[in-house]
Amino acid sequence: MRSDAIGALDPELSLLIDRLPKVELHVHLEGTLEPELAFRLALRNGIALPFASVEEMRAAYEFSDLQSFLNVYYAACAVLVAREDFRDLTRAYLARAHADGVRHVEPFFDPQTHTERGIPIADVIGGILDGLAEGEREYGITSGLILSFLRHLPVEAADAELAAAEPWLDRIVAVGLDSSEIGFPPEPFAGTFARARSLGLRTVAHAGEEADASLVARTIDALEVSRIDHGVRAADDPTVMRLLVEAGVTLTACPNSNVRLRVFPSMEGSTIRTLLDAGVAVTINSDDPAYFGGYIGDNYRGITAGLDLQAADLHRLAANAINGSFATAARKQELLAELALAIAG
Ligand code: ADE
Ligand code: ZN
Repeated sequence: MRSDAIGALDPELSLLIDRLPKVELHVHLEGTLEPELAFRLALRNGIALPFASVEEMRAAYEFSDLQSFLNVYYAACAVLVAREDFRDLTRAYLARAHADGVRHVEPFFDPQTHTERGIPIADVIGGILDGLAEGEREYGITSGLILSFLRHLPVEAADAELAAAEPWLDRIVAVGLDSSEIGFPPEPFAGTFARARSLGLRTVAHAGEEADASLVARTIDALEVSRIDHGVRAADDPTVMRLLVEAGVTLTACPNSNVRLRVFPSMEGSTIRTLLDAGVAVTINSDDPAYFGGYIGDNYRGITAGLDLQAADLHRLAANAINGSFATAARKQELLAELALAIAG
């Protein structure tokens, strides 16, 4: 059934979104740090936050572009100090994800944001793995952790971080590349990504969030990634969309993030419809939900209303996320069967 007007969400589609077994492929654990938890951790660790209250912190989340957001996001990470902080952060995300119907998640973490402050990588990874294991026991949410390099730092620092993470590589599914996009090209990281692949890891990278479609093509070429994170600017170039389809590369789009960071002026301006029509395997995700006003369900609802998406589109988006994940073949089959039941109502 079509909604009456663009911008209004059909109640039946809203119920369908609630039922979808969701797979989240683009969420930064550091971006799930809600102000309430930030204040709790600040108190526990004796750290002063530059805000008088939770409300004041949340009200400060007005961003003009990616960099203005990243400045706030990196500063807030100062409250993450002990292994239990990383565990609590992960647990809090999984509780919200569970409420949104997430069945499998492949979250990013940025180890350099923490090791640069003197936090041992063992505490960062150990705490996150504790949280993921507890979340799986409690909610049945399976996961694959992605170690993401900061592209504004030198490639030597990425190499050192990959070496430092070696004891945990059997618990990490992939490496990624994030942070400031413009002025920090992917090519210098080609050797790091090749080494990660030789160690048995999969590869993904942010591209085409702020920079144009050509960066999506260059990233696929240089880093041989299975997924491009964001990639929504690929819609500006039919050749790049064809490349994505032919190479079988999944895009992890984040509608709320794109509006809050002014990649698009509104949901109606998103390129997701164009990408779907071109046959690109696009998915819906939350990116940094504590900062962008909503978790994955909210992103599904917003883009469905904004682009007047229909049940068949939602089916495709949810199936793309299952198929584009690094879950085992058996887990994918389980999730696809659950999806078929959800679509049947
Ligand atoms: N780190 C956290 N969120 C990010 C985003 N949207 N783009 C690049 N780096 C990020
Ligand atoms: Zn991201």
